[in-house]
Amino acid sequence: MLTEKIQELLQEQINREFYSAYLYLDFSNHYNEVGLDGFGHWYYLQAKEEMEHARQFMDYLHKMDVKVQLKAIAQPDKKIKKVLDGVEMALEHERFITASIENIYAVAHEAKDYKTLDFIQGLVREQVEEEDSARILVDKVKAYGDDPSSLYLLNQELRGRA
Ligand SMILES: [Fe+2]
Ligand SMILES: [Fe+2]
Repeated sequence: MLTEKIQELLQEQINREFYSAYLYLDFSNHYNEVGLDGFGHWYYLQAKEEMEHARQFMDYLHKMDVKVQLKAIAQPDKKIKKVLDGVEMALEHERFITASIENIYAVAHEAKDYKTLDFIQGLVREQVEEEDSARILVDKVKAYGDDPSSLYLLNQELRGRA
């Protein structure tokens, strides 16, 4: 049986993962609208990954016999003005998500909830990849984003994300 506190944190994390998906869909739309379809594609796939994270949390709650209660997803409110904005806000957002997941780890550890610790460990590991891929994108936009032909090539590269 999960403690009330841990149930609450896991339910909240489902909302945060869906918000992440919504945020990245918003970025995807923005980049598509300004002709950067490779960036648009990259963030569309990222949004799908976030939905998959939400699914993992819902699945875990179900396995622990907890009813999933979906909350309203907030409207994305981060406005992209230049190419660098979106990738930087994405990295900042991933760091926020990492802190949120690590808090669940800390609370589960405190409660000696070994099942939740085992489950959340995989998501702590996943956040290393999430922050890394977000950081790589920031570095690339910083390196090539100011030159139109380099930006064109970077956009082409991002189209290739599988
Ligand atoms: Fe996520
Ligand atoms: Fe993420």
